[in-house]
Amino acid sequence: MFSSRKVASLVAVVALAASGCSSSGSSPSASAAASQSSAPASVAASSAAASSAAPSSGAGCTVGVSWNNYQEERWAKWDEPAIKKALGTAKYIATDAKSKSEQQLSDVESLIAQKVNVIIILAQDGTAIEPAVQKATQAGVKVIAYDRLIEDASTLYITFDNVKVGHLQAQYVFAQKPTGNYVIIKGSPTDANANFLRQGMDEVIKSAVDSGAIKIVGETYTPNWDPPTAKTEMEQFLTKAGGKVDAVLSENDGMAGGVISALQDKGLAGTVPVSGQDGDQAALNRVALGTQTVDVWKDARLLGTTAGAAAIALCNGTAMDKITNVKPFTSPGKNTLNSILLDPDPITKDNLADVLDAGWITKDQLCQNVKAGSVKGC
Ligand code: BGC
Repeated sequence: MFSSRKVASLVAVVALAASGCSSSGSSPSASAAASQSSAPASVAASSAAASSAAPSSGAGCTVGVSWNNYQEERWAKWDEPAIKKALGTAKYIATDAKSKSEQQLSDVESLIAQKVNVIIILAQDGTAIEPAVQKATQAGVKVIAYDRLIEDASTLYITFDNVKVGHLQAQYVFAQKPTGNYVIIKGSPTDANANFLRQGMDEVIKSAVDSGAIKIVGETYTPNWDPPTAKTEMEQFLTKAGGKVDAVLSENDGMAGGVISALQDKGLAGTVPVSGQDGDQAALNRVALGTQTVDVWKDARLLGTTAGAAAIALCNGTAMDKITNVKPFTSPGKNTLNSILLDPDPITKDNLADVLDAGWITKDQLCQNVKAGSVKGC
């Protein structure tokens, strides 16, 4: 599904950002979407681009990455290696806040003290982290808000189009169940992505909710996107609705695992459509097995590569707004940030070959316990 033109322009994006060149004269937006909207995809996130990106030199640069945790499979398996690879010869220092926002504040301060040039932050809490970001900026350290928004106009916001992720999640579930009782399992209330996703879902279901065709019988945030908590939430909503739940919009794969386990206990797995995101190995297997309807796949290799290359460009003195494909983004807090938004891909039982072709998962992993020939790809 990737045309060579798209791949070529994505490679150019990464190479240009890595070399610190400005984007003048380059082709129109390759990987960047104009806003977090449901606008048509400009390009699918391409693993080919991620893996064939020109390595940046990074000489003399030190880049700190403040991870909030490594809970989801993607962070250690895909994001971190892609960032490291894109940093080339730059020094990489990682910290893990273990889901504690106070810890993340001191992690960022310690990175500043270690004289890093750029800090990439996956924020536990996009508001609580603000004082540390201000300290970094005062110390002349550039900050990249990685995947999750930080309400600070001085940060470079690099993420996927999260509104579109939510739109796609709802679109495929809604196609299966355009009426009935819906449960919505949202992510962490301290992560702006939870609301962006919910906004995208509304684009699809709002008129059916307004007309009464869809009834939301349960909706909740899930602290820390925690899968066992999502299971408990689902059990409680099932009890409250007397078992009559027709569809579940889960904002990520980890929580979808908890939801599907609760459905399984009631003999409902496979009949109630469920969404997710991230392309977790277990979730893609569930799509093949038929217990998860859609997994919105974000090729985290491309996100990591883009952020790593941008970090090198910033270290080499490129202004944020001159980094290739950077566009203005207006945040819910009315800050205007420089941003790069990548495009997500919905994976259903009909296009499982896409994740196989991209080298994201092996056939054995994808097709574990799946009856041969029951879906395309297995
Ligand atoms: C990310 C998701 C991830 C979730 C939990 C969100 O901000 O966009 O990919 O599943 O955090 O880590």
